[in-house]
Amino acid sequence: AAPCDIYASGGTPCIAAHSTTRALYSAFSGALYQVRRGSDGSTTDIRPLSAGDVANAASQDTFCNGTTCLISVIYDQSGRGNHLTQAPPGGFQGPEANGYDNLASAVGAPVTLKGGQKAYGVFISPGTGYRNNRVSGSAVRDEAEGMYAVLDGTHYNNGCCFDYGNAETNSKDTGNGHMETIYFGDNTVWGSGAGSGPWIMADLENGLFSGANVKQNTADPSISHRFLTAVVKGGPGKWAIKGANAASGALSTFYNGARPNAAGYNPMSKEGAIVLGIGGDNSVGAQGTFYEGVMTTGYPSDATENAVQADIVSAGYSLASLALGGPSLPVGQSVSLRATTTGYTTRYLAHTGATVNTQVVTPSSAAALKQQASWTVRTGLATATGGQCYSFESRDAPGSYLRHYNFELTVANSDGSKQFREDATFCTGGGAERRAGAGVGPGLGVPDQVL
Ligand code: AHR
Repeated sequence: AAPCDIYASGGTPCIAAHSTTRALYSAFSGALYQVRRGSDGSTTDIRPLSAGDVANAASQDTFCNGTTCLISVIYDQSGRGNHLTQAPPGGFQGPEANGYDNLASAVGAPVTLKGGQKAYGVFISPGTGYRNNRVSGSAVRDEAEGMYAVLDGTHYNNGCCFDYGNAETNSKDTGNGHMETIYFGDNTVWGSGAGSGPWIMADLENGLFSGANVKQNTADPSISHRFLTAVVKGGPGKWAIKGANAASGALSTFYNGARPNAAGYNPMSKEGAIVLGIGGDNSVGAQGTFYEGVMTTGYPSDATENAVQADIVSAGYSLASLALGGPSLPVGQSVSLRATTTGYTTRYLAHTGATVNTQVVTPSSAAALKQQASWTVRTGLATATGGQCYSFESRDAPGSYLRHYNFELTVANSDGSKQFREDATFCTGGGAERRAGAGVGPGLGVPDQVL
Protein backbone atom coordinates (compact mmCIF):
# COMPACT_ATOMS: atom_id res chain seq x y z
CA ALA A 1 0.00 0.00 0.00
CA ALA A 2 1.10 3.56 -0.73
CA PRO A 3 0.79 6.49 1.74
CA CYS A 4 -2.73 7.55 0.79
CA ASP A 5 -3.98 3.93 0.80
CA ILE A 6 -2.63 3.71 4.36
CA TYR A 7 -4.25 6.99 5.47
CA ALA A 8 -7.56 5.85 3.93
CA SER A 9 -7.56 2.53 5.72
CA GLY A 10 -6.75 4.40 8.93
CA GLY A 11 -9.93 6.46 8.50
CA THR A 12 -8.09 9.71 7.72
CA PRO A 13 -7.97 9.87 3.91
CA CYS A 14 -5.76 12.21 1.91
CA ILE A 15 -7.51 15.29 0.62
CA ALA A 16 -4.42 16.24 -1.35
CA ALA A 17 -1.41 14.20 -2.43
CA HIS A 18 1.50 15.92 -4.15
CA SER A 19 4.64 14.34 -5.51
CA THR A 20 6.88 14.77 -8.52
CA THR A 21 8.71 11.55 -7.70
CA ARG A 22 6.06 8.81 -7.37
CA ALA A 23 2.44 7.80 -7.10
CA LEU A 24 1.08 8.12 -3.57
CA TYR A 25 -1.80 5.67 -4.19
CA SER A 26 -0.94 2.17 -5.38
CA ALA A 27 -3.59 2.46 -8.13
CA PHE A 28 -2.64 5.96 -9.30
CA SER A 29 -1.51 6.21 -12.91
CA GLY A 30 -2.54 9.79 -13.73
CA ALA A 31 -0.43 12.89 -14.17
CA LEU A 32 1.99 13.62 -11.31
CA TYR A 33 3.17 17.01 -12.52
CA GLN A 34 3.39 19.27 -15.53
CA VAL A 35 6.55 20.79 -16.97
CA ARG A 36 6.78 23.83 -19.23
CA ARG A 37 9.73 24.20 -21.55
CA GLY A 38 11.53 27.42 -22.33
CA SER A 39 12.02 26.93 -26.06
CA ASP A 40 8.35 27.19 -27.09
CA GLY A 41 6.36 27.51 -23.85
CA SER A 42 4.59 24.19 -24.42
CA THR A 43 3.75 21.83 -21.56
CA THR A 44 3.55 18.12 -20.95
CA ASP A 45 2.38 15.93 -18.08
CA ILE A 46 4.73 13.49 -16.37
CA ARG A 47 3.10 10.26 -15.19
CA PRO A 48 4.23 7.24 -13.21
CA LEU A 49 6.00 4.47 -15.16
CA SER A 50 3.01 2.31 -14.23
CA ALA A 51 0.21 2.51 -11.67
CA GLY A 52 1.63 3.19 -8.21
CA ASP A 53 5.16 3.55 -9.53
CA VAL A 54 7.98 6.10 -9.78
CA ALA A 55 7.63 9.10 -12.12
CA ASN A 56 8.70 8.67 -15.73
CA ALA A 57 11.66 11.05 -15.53
CA ALA A 58 12.86 9.94 -18.95
CA SER A 59 9.74 11.45 -20.53
CA GLN A 60 10.68 14.79 -18.94
CA ASP A 61 14.26 14.48 -20.16
CA THR A 62 13.03 13.83 -23.71
CA PHE A 63 10.58 16.74 -23.66
CA CYS A 64 13.14 19.14 -22.15
CA ASN A 65 16.08 18.03 -24.29
CA GLY A 66 17.99 21.05 -25.57
CA THR A 67 16.01 23.57 -23.54
CA THR A 68 15.07 24.45 -19.96
CA CYS A 69 11.96 23.26 -18.11
CA LEU A 70 10.02 24.52 -15.11
CA ILE A 71 7.59 22.58 -12.94
CA SER A 72 4.36 24.40 -13.76
CA VAL A 73 1.78 22.22 -11.94
CA ILE A 74 2.11 19.68 -9.13
CA TYR A 75 -1.07 17.68 -9.52
CA ASP A 76 -3.19 16.44 -6.65
CA GLN A 77 -3.47 12.66 -6.84
CA SER A 78 -6.46 12.47 -4.48
CA GLY A 79 -9.00 13.11 -7.22
CA ARG A 80 -10.15 16.35 -5.59
CA GLY A 81 -8.29 18.58 -8.00
CA ASN A 82 -6.24 20.29 -5.29
CA HIS A 83 -3.34 21.01 -7.62
CA LEU A 84 -0.47 23.35 -6.75
CA THR A 85 0.40 26.08 -9.24
CA GLN A 86 2.54 29.24 -9.34
CA ALA A 87 1.76 31.18 -6.16
CA PRO A 88 0.12 34.59 -6.59
CA PRO A 89 1.14 37.76 -4.74
CA GLY A 90 -0.31 38.29 -1.27
CA GLY A 91 1.06 40.20 1.70
CA PHE A 92 4.35 39.95 -0.19
CA GLN A 93 5.05 39.96 -3.91
CA GLY A 94 7.01 37.28 -5.70
CA PRO A 95 9.76 38.15 -8.21
CA GLU A 96 7.82 37.10 -11.33
CA ALA A 97 5.45 39.14 -13.50
CA ASN A 98 2.49 40.63 -11.60
CA GLY A 99 4.01 39.65 -8.27
CA TYR A 100 3.75 35.90 -8.83
CA ASP A 101 6.43 33.64 -7.37
CA ASN A 102 8.98 31.80 -9.46
CA LEU A 103 8.42 28.25 -10.61
CA ALA A 104 11.03 25.60 -9.77
CA SER A 105 13.49 24.22 -12.30
CA ALA A 106 12.43 20.74 -13.33
CA VAL A 107 15.98 19.38 -12.93
CA GLY A 108 17.04 21.01 -9.65
CA ALA A 109 16.56 18.02 -7.36
CA PRO A 110 17.38 14.69 -9.03
CA VAL A 111 17.07 11.49 -6.98
CA THR A 112 16.66 7.80 -7.52
CA LEU A 113 13.95 5.63 -6.00
CA LYS A 114 13.46 1.88 -5.76
CA GLY A 115 16.99 0.87 -6.54
CA GLY A 116 17.91 3.28 -9.29
CA GLN A 117 14.82 4.73 -11.01
CA LYS A 118 15.47 8.40 -11.64
CA ALA A 119 13.00 11.08 -10.53
CA TYR A 120 13.04 14.80 -9.84
CA GLY A 121 12.00 16.67 -6.69
CA VAL A 122 10.96 20.32 -6.41
CA PHE A 123 13.99 22.53 -5.69
CA ILE A 124 12.69 25.73 -4.08
CA SER A 125 15.05 28.72 -4.20
CA PRO A 126 14.07 31.93 -2.39
CA GLY A 127 11.40 33.53 -4.56
CA THR A 128 9.85 30.21 -5.62
CA GLY A 129 6.42 29.13 -4.40
CA TYR A 130 3.32 27.06 -5.18
CA ARG A 131 -0.16 27.48 -3.84
CA ASN A 132 -3.84 26.56 -4.12
CA ASN A 133 -6.28 28.98 -2.51
CA ARG A 134 -9.41 27.00 -3.44
CA VAL A 135 -8.93 23.61 -1.90
CA SER A 136 -11.69 21.06 -1.63
CA GLY A 137 -12.01 19.06 1.58
CA SER A 138 -9.22 20.58 3.68
CA ALA A 139 -9.54 21.33 7.38
CA VAL A 140 -11.04 24.70 8.28
CA ARG A 141 -11.41 26.43 11.65
CA ASP A 142 -10.46 23.93 14.37
CA GLU A 143 -11.03 20.77 12.32
CA ALA A 144 -8.45 18.00 12.55
CA GLU A 145 -5.90 17.26 9.85
CA GLY A 146 -2.60 15.50 9.34
CA MET A 147 0.25 15.99 6.91
CA TYR A 148 3.68 14.74 6.04
CA ALA A 149 6.36 15.79 3.60
CA VAL A 150 9.62 14.26 2.41
CA LEU A 151 12.26 16.99 2.18
CA ASP A 152 16.00 17.47 1.68
CA GLY A 153 17.29 17.99 5.22
CA THR A 154 20.42 19.71 3.93
CA HIS A 155 18.62 22.35 1.85
CA TYR A 156 17.22 25.07 4.10
CA ASN A 157 17.78 28.61 5.29
CA ASN A 158 16.54 31.01 7.93
CA GLY A 159 14.21 32.93 5.66
CA CYS A 160 10.45 32.91 6.02
CA CYS A 161 9.12 30.31 5.44
CA PHE A 162 9.67 26.93 3.81
CA ASP A 163 6.19 25.56 4.53
CA TYR A 164 3.95 22.79 3.25
CA GLY A 165 0.40 22.72 4.49
CA ASN A 166 -2.75 24.64 5.36
CA ALA A 167 -2.72 28.44 4.92
CA GLU A 168 -4.82 31.53 4.22
CA THR A 169 -7.08 31.59 1.20
CA ASN A 170 -6.24 35.24 0.38
CA SER A 171 -2.41 34.88 0.60
CA LYS A 172 -2.33 37.42 3.43
CA ASP A 173 -1.62 37.26 7.15
CA THR A 174 -5.12 37.11 8.60
CA GLY A 175 -4.01 36.42 12.16
CA ASN A 176 -2.81 33.87 14.69
CA GLY A 177 -4.03 30.34 14.09
CA HIS A 178 -4.94 30.90 10.44
CA MET A 179 -2.27 28.44 9.24
CA GLU A 180 -1.17 24.91 10.11
CA THR A 181 1.81 23.73 8.07
CA ILE A 182 5.03 21.81 8.29
CA TYR A 183 7.96 24.26 8.47
CA PHE A 184 11.60 23.26 7.88
CA GLY A 185 14.64 25.50 8.36
CA ASP A 186 16.71 27.37 10.92
CA ASN A 187 14.65 30.52 11.35
CA THR A 188 14.79 31.73 14.97
CA VAL A 189 12.57 34.81 14.72
CA TRP A 190 9.77 32.88 16.44
CA GLY A 191 10.31 29.40 17.88
CA SER A 192 13.33 27.11 17.74
CA GLY A 193 14.46 23.72 18.99
CA ALA A 194 17.68 22.25 20.40
CA GLY A 195 21.03 23.21 18.88
CA SER A 196 21.44 25.46 15.90
CA GLY A 197 18.91 23.84 13.57
CA PRO A 198 17.47 23.15 11.13
CA TRP A 199 14.26 22.11 12.83
CA ILE A 200 10.89 20.71 11.86
CA MET A 201 8.36 23.13 13.31
CA ALA A 202 4.74 24.09 12.61
CA ASP A 203 3.85 27.42 11.03
CA LEU A 204 0.61 28.41 12.72
CA GLU A 205 0.76 32.04 11.46
CA ASN A 206 2.68 34.80 13.17
CA GLY A 207 4.83 32.09 14.63
CA LEU A 208 6.85 28.95 13.95
CA PHE A 209 6.21 26.58 16.83
CA SER A 210 8.30 23.72 18.25
CA GLY A 211 6.02 22.93 21.18
CA ALA A 212 3.78 24.62 23.73
CA ASN A 213 6.21 27.45 24.52
CA VAL A 214 6.25 30.13 21.89
CA LYS A 215 10.08 30.31 21.85
CA GLN A 216 12.52 27.45 22.35
CA ASN A 217 11.52 23.85 23.04
CA THR A 218 14.62 21.68 23.33
CA ALA A 219 12.73 18.43 22.76
CA ASP A 220 12.61 19.44 19.09
CA PRO A 221 16.06 18.41 17.80
CA SER A 222 18.19 19.82 15.01
CA ILE A 223 17.63 17.33 12.20
CA SER A 224 19.23 17.21 8.78
CA HIS A 225 18.90 13.78 7.20
CA ARG A 226 19.50 14.11 3.46
CA PHE A 227 16.04 12.63 3.01
CA LEU A 228 13.83 13.81 5.84
CA THR A 229 10.28 12.84 6.76
CA ALA A 230 8.46 15.68 8.53
CA VAL A 231 5.03 15.20 10.12
CA VAL A 232 2.63 17.72 11.66
CA LYS A 233 -0.93 17.08 12.74
CA GLY A 234 -3.44 19.22 14.57
CA GLY A 235 -6.91 18.78 16.07
CA PRO A 236 -9.06 20.45 18.72
CA GLY A 237 -6.79 21.24 21.68
CA LYS A 238 -3.87 19.09 20.50
CA TRP A 239 -1.11 18.85 17.93
CA ALA A 240 2.12 16.99 17.26
CA ILE A 241 5.45 17.20 15.44
CA LYS A 242 7.37 14.11 14.29
CA GLY A 243 10.40 13.46 12.15
CA ALA A 244 12.51 10.65 10.72
CA ASN A 245 15.18 9.71 8.28
CA ALA A 246 13.11 9.11 5.14
CA ALA A 247 15.63 6.51 3.98
CA SER A 248 15.62 4.28 7.08
CA GLY A 249 14.16 3.77 10.52
CA ALA A 250 11.06 4.97 12.30
CA LEU A 251 9.39 8.25 13.19
CA SER A 252 10.25 10.00 16.45
CA THR A 253 7.80 12.29 18.23
CA PHE A 254 9.28 15.72 18.97
CA TYR A 255 6.12 17.27 20.41
CA ASN A 256 2.70 15.89 21.30
CA GLY A 257 0.46 17.99 23.44
CA ALA A 258 -1.53 21.15 23.95
CA ARG A 259 -1.76 24.09 21.59
CA PRO A 260 0.83 26.90 22.05
CA ASN A 261 0.64 29.22 25.07
CA ALA A 262 -0.44 32.29 23.14
CA ALA A 263 -3.72 33.89 22.17
CA GLY A 264 -5.32 32.84 18.91
CA TYR A 265 -4.06 29.29 18.55
CA ASN A 266 -6.78 27.46 20.53
CA PRO A 267 -9.16 27.06 18.90
CA MET A 268 -7.47 27.35 15.52
CA SER A 269 -8.90 29.39 12.62
CA LYS A 270 -7.58 27.33 9.71
CA GLU A 271 -8.65 28.50 6.27
CA GLY A 272 -7.77 25.51 4.10
CA ALA A 273 -5.53 26.77 1.29
CA ILE A 274 -2.33 24.80 0.59
CA VAL A 275 1.14 26.37 0.28
CA LEU A 276 4.49 24.92 -0.75
CA GLY A 277 7.78 26.75 -0.17
CA ILE A 278 6.33 30.02 1.12
CA GLY A 279 4.71 31.59 4.16
CA GLY A 280 0.99 32.14 4.51
CA ASP A 281 1.31 35.77 3.39
CA ASN A 282 3.51 34.74 0.42
CA SER A 283 6.75 35.50 2.27
CA VAL A 284 9.26 34.22 -0.29
CA GLY A 285 12.60 34.27 1.54
CA ALA A 286 12.95 30.56 2.21
CA GLN A 287 14.53 27.62 0.40
CA GLY A 288 14.15 23.87 0.57
CA THR A 289 13.42 20.78 -1.50
CA PHE A 290 10.13 18.89 -1.59
CA TYR A 291 9.78 15.35 -2.92
CA GLU A 292 6.31 14.30 -1.77
CA GLY A 293 3.66 15.22 0.76
CA VAL A 294 0.00 14.85 1.62
CA MET A 295 -2.74 16.53 3.61
CA THR A 296 -5.42 14.44 5.31
CA THR A 297 -8.83 14.98 6.81
CA GLY A 298 -9.03 13.82 10.42
CA TYR A 299 -6.24 13.29 12.96
CA PRO A 300 -4.13 10.35 11.75
CA SER A 301 -3.26 7.70 14.32
CA ASP A 302 0.34 7.02 15.26
CA ALA A 303 -0.01 3.54 13.78
CA THR A 304 -1.08 5.05 10.46
CA GLU A 305 1.86 7.46 10.45
CA ASN A 306 4.27 4.66 11.32
CA ALA A 307 3.00 2.63 8.37
CA VAL A 308 3.37 5.65 6.07
CA GLN A 309 6.98 6.12 7.22
CA ALA A 310 7.66 2.43 6.47
CA ASP A 311 6.29 2.94 2.96
CA ILE A 312 8.47 6.04 2.45
CA VAL A 313 11.53 4.02 3.49
CA SER A 314 10.55 1.26 1.08
CA ALA A 315 10.43 3.82 -1.73
CA GLY A 316 14.22 3.85 -1.39
CA TYR A 317 15.09 7.52 -1.82
CA SER A 318 18.75 7.95 -2.67
CA LEU A 319 21.04 10.56 -4.13
CA ALA A 320 21.50 11.04 -7.83
CA SER A 321 24.23 13.28 -9.15
CA LEU A 322 23.15 16.73 -10.23
CA ALA A 323 23.82 15.67 -13.81
CA LEU A 324 22.76 18.74 -15.75
CA GLY A 325 24.75 17.66 -18.77
CA GLY A 326 27.30 20.45 -18.57
CA PRO A 327 31.04 20.28 -19.08
CA SER A 328 33.70 19.84 -16.44
CA LEU A 329 35.67 23.01 -15.78
CA PRO A 330 39.40 23.14 -15.01
CA VAL A 331 39.61 23.82 -11.28
CA GLY A 332 42.46 26.20 -10.48
CA GLN A 333 42.67 27.58 -14.01
CA SER A 334 41.43 30.85 -15.45
CA VAL A 335 38.39 30.90 -17.75
CA SER A 336 36.18 33.43 -19.48
CA LEU A 337 32.45 33.03 -19.84
CA ARG A 338 31.08 34.04 -23.22
CA ALA A 339 27.46 35.01 -23.90
CA THR A 340 25.70 32.56 -26.22
CA THR A 341 22.68 34.79 -26.83
CA THR A 342 22.35 35.36 -30.56
CA GLY A 343 23.74 38.78 -31.47
CA TYR A 344 25.83 39.08 -28.30
CA THR A 345 28.38 36.35 -28.75
CA THR A 346 31.35 38.71 -28.67
CA ARG A 347 30.52 39.54 -25.07
CA TYR A 348 32.02 38.04 -21.93
CA LEU A 349 30.90 38.10 -18.32
CA ALA A 350 32.98 40.84 -16.67
CA HIS A 351 32.94 42.92 -13.54
CA THR A 352 34.02 46.27 -12.19
CA GLY A 353 34.03 46.04 -8.43
CA ALA A 354 30.68 44.57 -7.41
CA THR A 355 29.00 45.36 -10.71
CA VAL A 356 28.70 42.46 -13.16
CA ASN A 357 27.90 42.98 -16.83
CA THR A 358 29.02 41.74 -20.22
CA GLN A 359 31.83 43.39 -22.18
CA VAL A 360 33.07 42.97 -25.72
CA VAL A 361 36.57 41.54 -25.34
CA THR A 362 38.98 40.68 -28.15
CA PRO A 363 42.58 39.50 -28.23
CA SER A 364 43.67 43.12 -28.64
CA SER A 365 41.67 44.44 -25.67
CA ALA A 366 43.53 46.10 -22.81
CA ALA A 367 44.98 43.72 -20.26
CA ALA A 368 42.83 45.27 -17.52
CA LEU A 369 39.62 44.47 -19.42
CA LYS A 370 40.79 40.94 -20.14
CA GLN A 371 41.44 40.48 -16.47
CA GLN A 372 37.99 41.83 -15.53
CA ALA A 373 36.54 39.17 -17.84
CA SER A 374 38.57 36.31 -16.37
CA TRP A 375 37.67 34.04 -13.46
CA THR A 376 39.62 31.40 -11.61
CA VAL A 377 37.60 28.19 -11.41
CA ARG A 378 37.20 26.88 -7.87
CA THR A 379 35.45 23.80 -6.58
CA GLY A 380 31.92 24.89 -5.65
CA LEU A 381 32.01 26.63 -2.26
CA ALA A 382 28.63 25.13 -1.34
CA THR A 383 28.87 21.71 0.22
CA ALA A 384 26.73 18.79 -0.90
CA THR A 385 26.01 20.13 -4.36
CA GLY A 386 27.38 17.07 -6.16
CA GLY A 387 27.80 17.09 -9.91
CA GLN A 388 29.63 19.70 -11.95
CA CYS A 389 29.40 22.69 -9.61
CA TYR A 390 31.94 25.48 -9.33
CA SER A 391 32.69 28.91 -7.92
CA PHE A 392 34.33 31.70 -9.90
CA GLU A 393 36.96 33.80 -8.17
CA SER A 394 37.70 37.22 -9.61
CA ARG A 395 41.11 37.52 -11.30
CA ASP A 396 41.55 41.20 -10.59
CA ALA A 397 40.17 41.04 -7.03
CA PRO A 398 41.24 37.62 -5.72
CA GLY A 399 39.23 36.49 -2.71
CA SER A 400 36.00 37.82 -4.18
CA TYR A 401 33.57 35.63 -6.06
CA LEU A 402 30.79 35.78 -8.58
CA ARG A 403 27.54 35.30 -6.67
CA HIS A 404 23.86 36.03 -7.13
CA TYR A 405 22.06 38.35 -4.80
CA ASN A 406 18.47 39.54 -5.09
CA PHE A 407 18.17 37.87 -8.53
CA GLU A 408 21.24 39.62 -9.96
CA LEU A 409 24.85 38.64 -10.38
CA THR A 410 27.39 40.56 -8.34
CA VAL A 411 30.95 40.08 -7.09
CA ALA A 412 31.62 40.03 -3.37
CA ASN A 413 34.01 38.79 -0.72
CA SER A 414 32.92 35.74 1.18
CA ASP A 415 31.33 36.50 4.53
CA GLY A 416 31.76 32.84 5.46
CA SER A 417 28.02 32.22 5.55
CA LYS A 418 26.16 29.21 4.18
CA GLN A 419 24.13 31.61 2.05
CA PHE A 420 27.24 33.13 0.48
CA ARG A 421 28.68 29.71 -0.37
CA GLU A 422 25.41 28.64 -1.99
CA ASP A 423 24.90 31.91 -3.87
CA ALA A 424 28.46 31.69 -5.20
CA THR A 425 28.13 28.13 -6.53
CA PHE A 426 27.08 27.43 -10.12
CA CYS A 427 26.52 24.13 -11.90
CA THR A 428 27.29 23.76 -15.59
CA GLY A 429 24.26 22.81 -17.61
CA GLY A 430 23.41 21.27 -20.92
CA GLY A 431 20.40 22.26 -22.92
CA ALA A 432 19.77 25.83 -23.94
CA GLU A 433 22.87 27.16 -22.28
CA ARG A 434 25.09 25.31 -24.72
CA ARG A 435 24.30 26.55 -28.17
CA ALA A 436 26.45 26.11 -31.23
CA GLY A 437 29.81 27.72 -30.70
CA ALA A 438 29.71 27.49 -26.93
CA GLY A 439 32.26 25.36 -25.22
CA VAL A 440 35.91 25.51 -24.38
CA GLY A 441 37.75 27.66 -26.89
CA PRO A 442 40.78 29.91 -27.35
CA GLY A 443 41.81 32.22 -24.58
CA LEU A 444 41.62 35.95 -24.20
CA GLY A 445 45.31 36.63 -23.85
CA VAL A 446 45.52 35.95 -20.14
CA PRO A 447 45.70 32.17 -19.60
CA ASP A 448 42.01 31.78 -20.29
CA GLN A 449 39.63 29.31 -21.71
CA VAL A 450 36.44 30.62 -23.22
CA LEU A 451 33.33 28.78 -22.12
O1 AHR B 1 4.14 32.44 10.92
C1 AHR B 1 5.27 32.83 10.23
C2 AHR B 1 4.95 33.67 9.05
O2 AHR B 1 4.49 34.93 9.45
C3 AHR B 1 3.87 33.19 8.13
O3 AHR B 1 4.23 32.16 7.28
C4 AHR B 1 3.57 34.44 7.37
O4 AHR B 1 2.27 34.44 6.85
C5 AHR B 1 3.81 35.55 8.38
O5 AHR B 1 4.64 36.51 7.82
